[in-house]
This record gives sequence, C-alpha cells and structure tokens, in this order.
Amino acid sequence: MSVEFHELEVSAVIVETPECSSFELRVPPHLAQAYRYRAGQHLTFKLPWDDFEITRCYSLASCPETGETMKIGVKRVDGGRVSNWLNDNVKVGDFLLTSVPEGRFVLDPETRTSTPLCLFAGGSGITPIMSLLKSALVTTRRFVTLLYANQARESVIYGDELERLAQRHPDRFELHHHVDADGGYLTAHDIVALLPRTDIAEYYICGPEPFMELVERTLGDAGVHEELIYIERFVSPADPDRAAPTVVDLESLDAPETFSLWLGGRSRTVPYVEGKTLLECAQAAGLNPAHSCESGFCGSCMSAVKTGKVHMRAHEALSERDVERGVALLCQSVPASADPLELDADSTSFRAASAVKSSYSKAWSRLAAATVFAFMVAGTLVLRLVQ
Ligand SMILES: Cc1cc2nc3c(=O)[nH]c(=O)nc-3n(C[C@H](O)[C@H](O)[C@H](O)COP(=O)(O)OP(=O)(O)OC[C@H]3O[C@@H](n4cnc5c(N)ncnc54)[C@H](O)[C@@H]3O)c2cc1C
Ligand code: FES
Repeated sequence: MSVEFHELEVSAVIVETPECSSFELRVPPHLAQAYRYRAGQHLTFKLPWDDFEITRCYSLASCPETGETMKIGVKRVDGGRVSNWLNDNVKVGDFLLTSVPEGRFVLDPETRTSTPLCLFAGGSGITPIMSLLKSALVTTRRFVTLLYANQARESVIYGDELERLAQRHPDRFELHHHVDADGGYLTAHDIVALLPRTDIAEYYICGPEPFMELVERTLGDAGVHEELIYIERFVSPADPDRAAPTVVDLESLDAPETFSLWLGGRSRTVPYVEGKTLLECAQAAGLNPAHSCESGFCGSCMSAVKTGKVHMRAHEALSERDVERGVALLCQSVPASADPLELDADSTSFRAASAVKSSYSKAWSRLAAATVFAFMVAGTLVLRLVQ
C-alpha cells in the first residue's frame, strides 16, 4: 500500500521571517479523516522538477488539538531548490500534491502524565517542536522546557506565539532562547543548566546536525537513557539528478525464507521475496507498517533489528549511533544473512514510553513491596499485642 497523496489548496501564506514562510493548507471535508494527524508528524510533497519529480518533507507546526488550520513552516536553505521555490512562488489558491501525515516524532499518549518534557529546537527545527509543545500544553499537565537556538534574533520563527504560550502557562512552560549573535555558540553547560532534576523526563530534539549532535551527546553524558531521547532529522533525499545509489549485489546476500515482524503488538511471519525490501515484502503479505517517503530520509519506517542482519541501501534518516544500536529502515533494508531475522516495527515509535513505563513499574513494585512489608510488620505487632 503506497502513501496516499492529494492536491491540497494553500489557504494562507504567512511570512514569518525573511528566510521562512508558513503555508496553511485547506483539507476538504471528504479528506478530513485521511489528514487527521498527531502533533510532530510531517507531510511529504511531490513537485515536478526539470525532468523528474522532487520529493520533500515538511513538519506540521500546527497542533491537531487546538483547532488550527494545518500549517507547515519552510525555511530557505542556501542553494536549496524546493525551500526557495516554495518561499518565492507559492501563493493563496495554489494546490500542492501532499501526502497524508506520517512520522514518529510524536508524543506517546500513554505518557500523558506528570513526566516533564524537554524540547530542543534549532532554526527551522522549531516546526515539529511547536506542534509538540502546543499539544503537550493543551492535552496534558506536563511541565515543558523549550530551548530554542538561532544564529540571530531575526531568525526566530513563531517568536510571538511562543511568548504568548509562555505568558499563558507561566507555571508549566519555561521558554529559553539562545542567540549565537548575542552570546556565542550554545555549549553543553547551557544545556545541562536546563535539565530537569528527575530521572524520568522525555527529550525531543530537532535542528541542524551539529546542534542535535551537541544536545544528544550532552544528554548522554548527563546520564539520560537513550530511550528517552527522540530525534527528527531534516534531510533531503538524493534526487535523480544527483543520486549515486548504493549498489547492492543481491545475489551475494544470503537471506532467510521468511522473517518475523512485530507490528501492532503481534509477531507476523513474512515471506522474503528476493530483491524486495522488507517493507515491500510486508506489504505483499498484506501488512502496512508505517512508511512515507520510501527513500530512506523521513524515518517513518524505523524498526529495531532484534535478531539477524540487514543491509540498508540508504539511511539518511538515521545517525551512525542509530545504525550501531540496530535501528533499520524497512523501506531500505534487505536481509544480509540467512540467519533468522526478527524486527520490531513497534519498538522505536514509543521508545520513550517503554523506558518511562519501566521506571514507573520499578517504582511501583518498590512501593508495593514496601507496603506488603509494612503490613507484615504491623500484623506481627498486632499478633504480639493480642497474645
Ligand atoms: C521528516 C522531515 C521533516 C522536515 N521538516 C521541515 C520543516 O518543517 N521545515 C523546513 O524548512 N525543512 C524541513 N525539512 C527539510 C526539507 O525537507 C528539505 O530537506 C529542505 O527544505 C531543503 O530542501 P531544498 O530542496 O530546498 O534543498 P536541496 O535542493 O535538497 O538542497 C540541499 C543542499 O544541497 C545542495 N544542492 C542542491 N542541488 C544540488 C546538486 N545538484 N548537487 C549538489 N548539491 C546540491 C544545496 O546547495 C543545499 O545546500 C524536513 C525534512 C524531513 C526529512
Ligand atoms: S519510509 Fe521514509 S525512511 Fe522509510
């Protein structure tokens, strides 16, 4: 099942900064269900370009729970084709070929508790972070800290909206801007100063690569478990005009006859069809794991390799660390050995939740054990008194 695309009308263009515009998209009533989304998800756009079609993802900066019109924010990239074309050409009334929303950079509904949320945004990385922030403030009682880093004050996107949110929620939203032009580059020290004093918090990061690397490394050094860290990478796919696809000699790769895929809480056995990706095999078997770009750059199809080995044709959406710890993109993976292969398409979507839940369950079991012990002591005392 490939991803659904529809022509959506641009209903507003808002110039946010000299480098960035927001585009609101009108969803006709008959597509309302298809375009239901979760805060933090993105849309994929297809545009005709020279002799080929160009594909780009843009995160939703709007929030599904506030009744806002669906909105993306696009920041110009130096020499970038689509980002500049959208900013220079798109006007109200134009139509854009737009996918239904996808992506796993979302809040886990099961973590709607008092778990603090730490958001880190750099430059245009504010778009999905903005959506997550609004959703957390509207639908939870969570304490939210946002560090938003920019090179200059003029580059701050959604600055007024952020100020309004900070004023509306002074008791549980802390907003910190970092502007390189004022105080130099962000440092690990600046990040550590903002971390909540608790073991159980969730961290979402989106921005330029060096920014994300600094935040991720600092969190790791501070002892934050990697399962509590969510990252969204803004990358462009290699277009046909500059693609140098990794050539995989499929003949030389051994493969098992079937592989196991955890999906929707159940393990399914999927026949492996030679030359097909694991996503294509799963789809041929009637399954529909999350996916969007099918080109290795959006991260929607991330899965954990539990046993066996895979080869990925491309993996722009993943860091080297992701690859080292066994995260694979189903749309780019083929088996790399005949050993039994098991993947979990559920696990990476709610990494944070599982870690939080296990911390909670440990805390609850300790509390339960203490309660039982207290009852036993009290019971013994009562018995002694009675005797
Ligand atoms: C899940 C996801 C969500 C995203 N959300 C957002 C968002 O909310 N907002 C946002 O602004 N961006 C977002 N992005 C990034 C966005 O998709 C694009 O990658 C970005 O806009 C740049 O695209 P472009 O076509 O303008 O640049 P490209 O044309 O892809 O250019 C990128 C770089 O490559 C260079 N280049 C261009 N053509 C060539 C060539 N022929 N040979 C060599 N080098 C070349 C350019 O000079 C430039 O430096 C997101 C990406 C992903 C994957
Ligand atoms: S579907 Fe986008 S990375 Fe696989």
